[in-house]
Amino acid sequence: MMRRVLLTAAKIPAIRNLSVRLPPIRRMVDRFVAGETPEAALDAVARIAATGRVATIDHLGEDTTTQAAALAATDANLRLISLIAERGLAEVAELSLKASAIGQALPGGHALAQENAERIIAAAHEAGTRVTIDMEDHTTTDATLALVQELREEFPDTGTVLQAMLHRTPSDAERWAHPGSRIRLCKGAYNEPASVAHTDKRAINASYVACLHRLIDGGAHPMVATHDPALIQAALDLLAEAGRPADSYEFQMLYGIRPTEQQRLADAGHTVRVYVPYGTDWYGYFMRRLAEKPANLALLGRALIGR
Ligand code: FDA
Repeated sequence: MMRRVLLTAAKIPAIRNLSVRLPPIRRMVDRFVAGETPEAALDAVARIAATGRVATIDHLGEDTTTQAAALAATDANLRLISLIAERGLAEVAELSLKASAIGQALPGGHALAQENAERIIAAAHEAGTRVTIDMEDHTTTDATLALVQELREEFPDTGTVLQAMLHRTPSDAERWAHPGSRIRLCKGAYNEPASVAHTDKRAINASYVACLHRLIDGGAHPMVATHDPALIQAALDLLAEAGRPADSYEFQMLYGIRPTEQQRLADAGHTVRVYVPYGTDWYGYFMRRLAEKPANLALLGRALIGR
């Protein structure tokens, strides 16, 4: 229930405008967001890399409503890529990109998002890194997968995301499970209706394991994106059973969440990629993080009353 309220609030501009101005909320955001500038994000990446982990960087922003904003988001990603190259971080930092940030929802949005994504991915390649296209709510899944399919014709290492909570995902996993296919598997962070998504945690976890099984069997490069101890153990078991070498999969977790577990997996020889978001447009991302863990609300409550 609380999850639904928070995820609904994440889409309401009036609440957004009030929240971003409240200093206690901004302070709490620091746990989940690496800073407002690309320089701050790259400082975080350098710290992460120093501990044997790698990163994927997200310039925050979504649901862009104008062509100018889509272009500004594209330019921000291009600037990020040149800074990655300048600081020699291409081997440890790739990018995560939301199609809605670069114009997908605008009229003619498919072509616009494709053009902007191609510019970003070409620059990333030039710099020696690559891009994963994030997945947003279920109304965008077909459009985003179509975009990724087109992008992969020129840039086959473009990654994307499947969300285990959606009923459609086992069949998507089947379709996208082929050698070289970089697929991040997560539970799904959006407020989805029961007609398209599991709402029960056990069903979501069972779907996660089934989808991961398909990705591994089909020879994909799975990016196991979860902090859930049961799913991490299930993934370790499936990968070991399949005899997967350490460079044929990775674990991924979010900046600020279970850093000790991130380090434990990295120290055991697994690739651990940390999702590092930065920028001023943190509201939607932050609300999804609040919705994931009820205890975060208590922290927020204490921050708001100054304790
Ligand atoms: P679950 O929510 O059950 O959490 C398991 C445990 O992890 C919790 O008990 C807690 O200890 C810790 N934890 C999890 N979330 C926390 C939080 N917010 N604060 C504090 N502790 C927390 N989703 C999506 O729809 N599209 C996408 O493109 C992506 N991309 C993505 C990239 C990466 C690298 C990750 C790790 C996740 C995503 N997600 C995503 C988000 C994903 O769908 C999901 O919402 C979160 O990962 C939380 O689910 P868990 O699998 O961690 O399990």
